[in-house]
Amino acid sequence: TDLSLIRNFSIIAHIDHGKSTLADRLIQYTGGLSEREMSEQVLDNMDIERERGITIKAQTVRLDYTGKDGKTYQLNLMDTPGHVDFAYEVSRSLAACEGALLVVDAAQGVEAQTLANVYQSIEHDHEIVPVINKIDLPAAEPEKVRAEIEEVIGIDASEAVLTSAKSGIGIEEVLDAVVARIPPPKGDRTAPLKAMLVDSWYDPYLGVVILVRVIDGVIKKGLQVKFMAGGTEHLIDRVGCMRPKLQVLDELGPGEIGIITAQIKEVAQARVGDTITTVKQGATQALAGFKEVQPVVFCGLFPVDAADFEKLRESIGKLRLNDASFSFEMESSAALGFGFRCGFLGLLHLEIIQERLSREYDLDLITTAPSVVYRLTMTDGTVKELHNPADMPDPVKIREMEEPWIKATIYTPDEYLGSILKLCQDRRGVQTGLTYVGGRAQVSYELPLNEVVFDFYDRLKSISRGYASFDYEQIGLREGDLVMMNILVNNEPVDALSMVVHRSQADPRGRHLVERLKDLIPRHMFKIPIQAAIGAKVIARETISAMRKDVTAKCYGGDISRKKKLLEKQKEGKKRMREYGNVTIPQEAFIAALRMG
Ligand code: GTP
Repeated sequence: TDLSLIRNFSIIAHIDHGKSTLADRLIQYTGGLSEREMSEQVLDNMDIERERGITIKAQTVRLDYTGKDGKTYQLNLMDTPGHVDFAYEVSRSLAACEGALLVVDAAQGVEAQTLANVYQSIEHDHEIVPVINKIDLPAAEPEKVRAEIEEVIGIDASEAVLTSAKSGIGIEEVLDAVVARIPPPKGDRTAPLKAMLVDSWYDPYLGVVILVRVIDGVIKKGLQVKFMAGGTEHLIDRVGCMRPKLQVLDELGPGEIGIITAQIKEVAQARVGDTITTVKQGATQALAGFKEVQPVVFCGLFPVDAADFEKLRESIGKLRLNDASFSFEMESSAALGFGFRCGFLGLLHLEIIQERLSREYDLDLITTAPSVVYRLTMTDGTVKELHNPADMPDPVKIREMEEPWIKATIYTPDEYLGSILKLCQDRRGVQTGLTYVGGRAQVSYELPLNEVVFDFYDRLKSISRGYASFDYEQIGLREGDLVMMNILVNNEPVDALSMVVHRSQADPRGRHLVERLKDLIPRHMFKIPIQAAIGAKVIARETISAMRKDVTAKCYGGDISRKKKLLEKQKEGKKRMREYGNVTIPQEAFIAALRMG
């Protein structure tokens, strides 16, 4: 294809401003979808994604559009994941495009997340086309929003396209703006092949499917290629594009985005950001920016019912086929039995995997406290990585303990700034910058990752009523005064709740945990002490008083059917309970207890 007829673009938007609806309209308008298919949202195709309103894996659709000049253009529309846990994937997707549509809700205006995304896009030298959507709403104020885009983001919005993705208004104008304003890609067809591996996923029929952006050269079936960072060689057996269904093509030339398959069994072999070239006369220099993604948050996943262990192993293996960024190894715990120690890109990633296991594979799981990776220097000079608090060696043998830090950037409307500064301060943050753009503040903080993994996003979201957005990068390890805190229920340590904390946080966190557990653990026939301890020293204590006898007596009275219902309920309940020192702890208690108030 003639390079001047190609346009590669992504859509950036704040959650709910209409990104998916607009994408579906563009597909529909250019003939990729029938009205019936349109009713099912196409671009986000995983259940959990839809429910959470986020896009996990980037998807790309190719559209053919005949412009006003009578020429038919190839438009590659790329969807990008919206969450910081997947920041690297977002960055790779953006690197594969020359421009972006910036969708802003005509009633809501520019919001924090829009800013974070736009800055990323600007960093990639994108041409940004503002689209003011939802103009059908009675509360729509397109002119005000236009001024806001100019003031806050600092880009020209005089030619912003006004749309209602819902009613199908302005769709053609969006397509014309893409053709007219987003520059075509550059590339050399005769140069050695250089293609960027933008994304990969596992398909049960095709095996591993790889999304590529060809920079130079041509990729076609039968070509022997190598992955420069991965170091493996593969034979291309299929080349195509998504429309949104798969269409097989003869080749992908420079500037084009499409998919390839090469009989690859695991996505781990096709890593995002890698450079694909030919084995013979290939490129010698890889594309810039390949980064190996490392899990940063670890936790244990255990089946509630020990008999489900094999099923858990199988399910985790299947999930891993499609997600190379998630790692796992077998682990055994005194109280929880056999399970897996798993590594994730972040907390949201953890929650998604956990949810998919329980929903798609019907598994009841216990998740242990999430932990970051610590580096221990022992008194004998050896260095260890600690992925699991349960493996913590005797403190007297540790000379130094280091923890990972991040540089966080937070965008927020002014009025929430005070509470956000306090939150960061409470989490041992060190402020490194504060600037204002329009009515918004941009704050930067250095924070220990361990203070962020628990519930930082949740807290940030709730104190800013959803308006603050958050982005981070890792900045290395720093020494910290860290201690191991154990939680004892009826004098027995609950390994799922033991954690590494900063000494200054041990008291409040220990107190908080025991107070929460006191509310979360049901009463028993006996008194239950709950304690938080560092070594032998108890730092917080609560007691659950014993249940009075007549309460149970009353429970078990009544007619047969009610009794049966009760028994069934109990059975259901049992599935989600765990015993510690004769105390039954509901599964929710583990997760709930870990959220800081
Ligand atoms: P995430 O996938 O959660 O990031 O959201 P999104 O930006 O993809 O938004 P989505 O397309 O899911 O739209 C969010 C809501 O806004 C849905 O309920 C849409 O039906 C609605 N919506 C989208 N476009 C319009 C529009 O032009 N007018 C009106 N009134 N509603 C719209």
